[in-house]
Amino acid sequence: MTTTALPFSPRIGVFDSGLGGLSVLRSIRQRLPHAQLLYVADSGHAPYGERGDAYVCDRSLVIADFLYRQGAQLLVIACNTATAAAATAVRARYPDGRIVGVEPGLKPAATLTRNGRVGVMATNGTLRSERFRLLAQAHAAHLDLRLQPCTGLAAAIEAGEVDALTVRERVATHCAALREQGVDTVVLGCTHYPFVAHHIQAEMGPDVRLVDTSDAVARRTESLVAALAASGDKLPAHADHPAQVAHLWTTGDLVTLQGFVARWLDFPCALDALKA
Ligand code: DGL
Repeated sequence: MTTTALPFSPRIGVFDSGLGGLSVLRSIRQRLPHAQLLYVADSGHAPYGERGDAYVCDRSLVIADFLYRQGAQLLVIACNTATAAAATAVRARYPDGRIVGVEPGLKPAATLTRNGRVGVMATNGTLRSERFRLLAQAHAAHLDLRLQPCTGLAAAIEAGEVDALTVRERVATHCAALREQGVDTVVLGCTHYPFVAHHIQAEMGPDVRLVDTSDAVARRTESLVAALAASGDKLPAHADHPAQVAHLWTTGDLVTLQGFVARWLDFPCALDALKA
């Protein structure tokens, strides 16, 4: 008699201030199609990038608690701003939590740029953080970095319609500043921005390269999953969270999440409101 091993189906918790982290969720799903994905969009408290660090840290801990209570075996902080403000605190609370953070892709940008001038589009919170300062010191000390705090852009994307005039106007303003400075590479340092990459590319022109780290984050997640599988810490598929169906919660507007998921995700998702 032969037995067929069931694919390992790790339970992965992912969160962001809102819809942006779905760009990371999509990449994780591509690399780990058997994972049980749990996602929280904290849209009721977005944008994180225009809040104080203490606020973002408190929200991140509330959501991490929720996801671990749902049985997450790994946590992906799919938000540059929350990683900068809260990754240390979340790791301190969950030392065995297997946590993946997200940082602006300065390292890949350093290998892509030809003229050494690199634009970084990110939130205020990310760009003013100590974590970003250290990242720039480690990977971009030899580059001419042009920082562009994209005030209002994540909030405009949160409305759900990425082709809306309000979104395109924000993109145009922020890109004009970078275009004038002659950058040849632009780092998308906020997980919301891959959803408007088509507008950013159109504004910057075809020769400018955009750096999106979603797949790098998914690869890092994949390697932690491999370590988890090797450790024997496996869970069977749980009735509440069957593998193949991602479970998404929002602290904001459920209809907006539904519309966004229908446009951007091509796998089955169960959606719920979350009071947290
Ligand atoms: N998506 C988040 C990031 O990667 C932040 C957006 C916000 O300001 O809420 O930084």
